[in-house]
Amino acid sequence: MSASTPAPKKLFIKTYGCQMNVYDSERMAEALASDGYETTDAPEGADMVLLNTCHIREKAAEKVYSELGRVKKLAAKKKADGGEMLVGVAGCVAQAEGAEITRRQPLVDVVVGPQAYHRLPELVAKAKQGEAAIDTDFPEEDKFARSRGPKAKRAPTAFLTVQEGCDKFCAFCVVPYTRGAEISRPADQVLAEARDLVERGVVEITLLGQNVNAYHGAGKDQDWSLAKLIRELAKVDGLERIRFTTSHPNDMDGDLIAAHGEVDKLMPYLHLPVQAGSDRILDAMNRRHTADEYIRLIERIRAVRPDLALSGDFIVGFPGETGAEFQDTMSLIREVNYAQAYSFKYSARPGTPASDLPLVDAAEASDRLQRLQTLLHQQQTDFQTSCVGKRLPILIEKPGRMNGQMIGRSPYLQAVHLQAASALTGTIVEADIIASKPNSLEGQLA
Ligand code: 5AD
Ligand code: SF4
Repeated sequence: MSASTPAPKKLFIKTYGCQMNVYDSERMAEALASDGYETTDAPEGADMVLLNTCHIREKAAEKVYSELGRVKKLAAKKKADGGEMLVGVAGCVAQAEGAEITRRQPLVDVVVGPQAYHRLPELVAKAKQGEAAIDTDFPEEDKFARSRGPKAKRAPTAFLTVQEGCDKFCAFCVVPYTRGAEISRPADQVLAEARDLVERGVVEITLLGQNVNAYHGAGKDQDWSLAKLIRELAKVDGLERIRFTTSHPNDMDGDLIAAHGEVDKLMPYLHLPVQAGSDRILDAMNRRHTADEYIRLIERIRAVRPDLALSGDFIVGFPGETGAEFQDTMSLIREVNYAQAYSFKYSARPGTPASDLPLVDAAEASDRLQRLQTLLHQQQTDFQTSCVGKRLPILIEKPGRMNGQMIGRSPYLQAVHLQAASALTGTIVEADIIASKPNSLEGQLA
C-alpha cells in the first residue's frame, strides 16, 4: 500500500426489521466499500451513519425521528472534533416519507428507498457536494444489478434476494406501497450469485422475498417458478441447504409442495403466515383463502414431508374481530401445530385499506395476544422437547459464548449449542440432541 492510501472511513449501519433489511444492509455496505467505507459496530465517531428502517412496526417513522435526534448529538461531537458525519436513511420509512425526512430533520444528507440502493455511492457523492440526495423512485431498469466486492470469504449461511415487492394487498399491510409491485430476478442471475456465494464458503442459502413463492423469473426465464429455481439450485455442488422466506399460501403450487418431498437440500422448515383463522376476518384482510384451504395445504405438504416444522405470522385484533373469531384463530393453531411463530396486535398503517376501520378495544386485543402467544409458546416448547434424543445433522456456523462451544443450526432452523472444534465451521455434523430450551437445543457430536 502506498503512503497516500486514505485511511478507511467508518460506516455504521443500524438495521431494523426483516431479513430483507439485513440482506440490504450487507449490500449497501458492499456498495460503499468501493468508496473506502468499512463497517463499524458503534455509531460514535463514524464517518457515515445509515439507518436501514422498517415500516411494519407501529410508529416506525416516529422512532426513526427520535433515533435521528440521538445521531444529531453524535454528529455535533464529530464536528467539534473537526470531522464530519454523513447521515442517511434507507429502507421502507425512507420510501414512505421521502423528502419529508430532510424537511423534519435537516441533519439527514441521504434518503434512499429500497429500489435505489445501487445508486447509493452516487447519492453519497452528491451529498458531499451539498446537493439534495433523495432517491425513492421505482426504476424500470435492473435494480438488482448490485456491485460486488472482491471474493471475500463469507459465513456459512447467507441470504439471497430473488424477488421484491408484493401484489397481494392484504388490507393491513404497507409492503405493496413501500416496496412496490412484485418483481422477480432473472434465474441466471440468481444462480450465478448462488455459485459465487458457494465459492466464498456459503453452505446454506435462504432465498428471500416479501412474497418469495410468487417468484416467476424475468426476461427469458419468465416461466420459472420458485420450485424450478430450487431444483436448479440443488444442483450446485457445495450448496448443501436451501430455504426460502416469506411465502403466501396461495402461491404454494403443486411443484413447490412436491419439491419438499423430492429435494433433499430443501430444508424441512416452512414459514407460511396465515394471519387469522376466521374466514370472515381472512376475507376482510383480503387474504383470498379460507382457514380450511390453509389447513388442507399444510396437510398436503406434510404428506410429502412429515417432519416439516411450520412457522407462521398472526395478527390479533384486526378491526371487527369478535371473541369467537379470535377463537377460530386459536383452533387453527391447535390444528396446525407450529414449531415457531410471530404474532402481533393489529395496528393501523396509514394509507392501507384497513387503516380507517374501528379498532378492537385495546385491552381486549392485548389479552387476545397474550392468550395466543401462550399457546404458540407451548407448541414451540413441545417441538423443542420432541427433538431431544434425536440425532440431527447440524450445520456448524459460529463460535458460542462458552469456551470450546460452537453454535450450529438444525434442519428445522433451531440454534444448537455443542462442543466442537472451530475448524468444523461450515461443515454439517451429526449430533445427538441432549437438552432443549425454548430458543435453542444442546447437542453432542455423534
Ligand atoms: N399490524 C400488525 N401486524 C402487521 N403485520 C403486517 N402489517 C401489520 C399491521 N398493520 C405483520 C403480519 C406480517 C408480518 C411481517 O407483520 O403478520 O406477516
Ligand atoms: Fe403484506 Fe405479505 Fe400481504 Fe404482501 S402478502 S400484502 S407482504 S402481508
